[in-house]
Amino acid sequence: MKTIAINGSPRKGWNTSILVEEALKGAASRGSETELVNLYDLNFKGCISCFECKRRGGKSFGRCAFGDELKPVLDRIRDCDALIIGSPIYIGEITAAARALFERLTFQYVTYSKDRATFFTRRIPTVLIYTMNVSESVLDSIGYTEKFKFYEARFNQLIGPAKTLVSTETWQTTDYSKYEMTMFDGDARKIRREEIFPQDKRKAFELGAGLAAR
Ligand SMILES: Cc1cc2nc3c(=O)[nH]c(=O)nc-3n(C[C@H](O)[C@H](O)[C@H](O)COP(=O)(O)O)c2cc1C
Repeated sequence: MKTIAINGSPRKGWNTSILVEEALKGAASRGSETELVNLYDLNFKGCISCFECKRRGGKSFGRCAFGDELKPVLDRIRDCDALIIGSPIYIGEITAAARALFERLTFQYVTYSKDRATFFTRRIPTVLIYTMNVSESVLDSIGYTEKFKFYEARFNQLIGPAKTLVSTETWQTTDYSKYEMTMFDGDARKIRREEIFPQDKRKAFELGAGLAAR
């Protein structure tokens, strides 16, 4: 069994990558082989609408044909047994890199056929991890819960069952006083990082272990 984890944050060693790696450790604890991909190390674009993945009889039918640095990752994902994808929320969405991955990963499997839902020939589980500034109490009212459900549904339709972990009010910088960001209480965030974030890490580990337990 092989699990591939994607860190969709530009920051290594920060909130998203910590949770993604924790989930990967969970999968490893159940005997899964693991691979971590830092998206921001790769030079790639979103879907370019070449339509080669939909060309009848084409050599790339059902698979992304765009040969940049994401292509080998998409090919390895095609053959893996479980996926972990993490992203911070940037301006109300997943990061541009994570969204570009989402386009490329899912559109190759989208069919415009009446009789077939996906070109993916297996079903593999995915854990989706999001980190963000906002508090849990506003997730519904600002539309984030709906957004997370949308991504779960797309994975479920095209790739396999997806579960979501949401980590809120993350510790964004080691010293809030150095930056103009008075709407946040840096001390409170640090305490949250020490007391609540470890719970998110445990949840990530368990979700990762759950991927391999299937
Ligand atoms: C460009 C940018 C935009 C952001 N936009 C939002 C946002 O719209 N909503 C939110 O809750 N947090 C937002 N954040 C905060 C990050 O989502 C949060 O700090 C996250 O945990 C960072 O992940 P990282 O530590 O893995 O880099 C933004 C941060 C940056 C740098």
